[in-house]
Amino acid sequence: MQPHLLEHAETLPAAERERFLAQLRSIDFAKIERLVAGESQTDDWAAIAAKAKSPRSIRLNRTDNEFTLEAARRRGAEALRSGHVGAMLVAGGQGTRLGFDHPKGMYPLGPVSEAFLFQILFEKLRAVGARYGVTIPLFLMTSPATHDETVAFLAEHDRFGLREEDLVVFCQGTMPAVDEQTGKLLLAGPGELALSPDGHGGMLAALAASRAPQIIRERGLKQLFYFQVDNPLAQVCDEATLGYHLLAESEVTMQAVPKHDPAEKVGVVVDVDRRMMVIEYSDLPAEHAARRAPDGTLELWAGSIAVHVFDAQFLLKHSTGDGGLPFHRARKKVPHLDAKGNLIEPTEPNALKFEKFIFDLAPAARSALVVEVDPAEAFAPLKNAPGAKTDSPEWVRAQMIAQATRRLEAAGAKVAAGTPVEISPLFGYDAETVAARVKPGMTVDKATYLSINAK
Ligand code: UTP
Repeated sequence: MQPHLLEHAETLPAAERERFLAQLRSIDFAKIERLVAGESQTDDWAAIAAKAKSPRSIRLNRTDNEFTLEAARRRGAEALRSGHVGAMLVAGGQGTRLGFDHPKGMYPLGPVSEAFLFQILFEKLRAVGARYGVTIPLFLMTSPATHDETVAFLAEHDRFGLREEDLVVFCQGTMPAVDEQTGKLLLAGPGELALSPDGHGGMLAALAASRAPQIIRERGLKQLFYFQVDNPLAQVCDEATLGYHLLAESEVTMQAVPKHDPAEKVGVVVDVDRRMMVIEYSDLPAEHAARRAPDGTLELWAGSIAVHVFDAQFLLKHSTGDGGLPFHRARKKVPHLDAKGNLIEPTEPNALKFEKFIFDLAPAARSALVVEVDPAEAFAPLKNAPGAKTDSPEWVRAQMIAQATRRLEAAGAKVAAGTPVEISPLFGYDAETVAARVKPGMTVDKATYLSINAK
């Protein structure tokens, strides 16, 4: 126990003091001390990276892949039609970089419609389900930072058309943030520790404690398609990715985009001693990041975009006991009370937060696979506040407009240069379903949102 916390408890009224002390008792101080001291930072990344190779993968536009695209699409379609596929969306993050005052899923991102991120992603799920004649259940992870608002928002919007029985919301746990210099737990307010969600890897423990395992068993779900709330281009329940996963008898399949520049800040999926793992960019020594294959491309090419397929049994097996995932430390700005009880809003990182990452589960898989995707078709994450060069709202909207324009033009429509156009996933969610709805001679010369009611 840290003395400043007991001193603080003494300043609180009796009822609050009890609540605060109970909260303190639930904290594993020894564990936090070890994390502050650097436990789980001990991996020898130079040695690991030296052994890292390109993982088993399906590359885009190659004729020598293990399985053909047609075979994968057939297999994935079969799995979807049989109702064995569920979806897993993590939305517990605080979204500090975006600087939006609500859960990120509530961000009005649609470039023309201002559709919320949740709406865009939920509509994708409904559209895929409708195509295969099923309703796909969604397991949605929130955190104490996002839970209440998310639940109220989704209720207010009738779950954007998902049936009540197809939406299972479960809440992840938290970890205390500590002062970077002293390792002391920070206070967010009187009688209140500064807590933050324990990372998307907190999904394993949260899942085990929820009704999800029972529902997964009852509904006979065999694959879970995992994606994140900040990527409106996510190819939710993509049949080809599911199909490759099944054909390869993989337990964990990760979509990846090719890295071209060794300095790109993206975690790479690699093979080390026949196990798949992700090395964070900050852990990958420059000499290994720059290694080239004989054809001149980067050898460690597979940039993770945090879209995965999990074998459901594999995920459930590892969700008990938390899969043993390590905590990672991140330096962040955390508002807190100083010793005199004044609220400090730091302008520079002042604290350490501890997070688990779901991709650290990959090495536990006996069989794993990477599926390369085109970033223009699959990845545009909303991370940064307006004004940033990339990953900002205007940048993501531009990617969405570019994709919609490509799809319409490929289907024979004429889109006047610079015209904002957006396609609701219910109108069409991929090139094929969009093409099926585009009428010959269609022209778009003013801001247009193609929704389910579009003629
Ligand atoms: P990020 O790691 O990018 O974090 O989350 P973030 O909260 O969106 O943004 P910053 O770093 O505070 O600016 C990637 C995905 O993982 C989810 C997020 O909601 C997002 O979908 N996530 C992250 C969780 O569900 N729980 C967490 O504890 C952390």
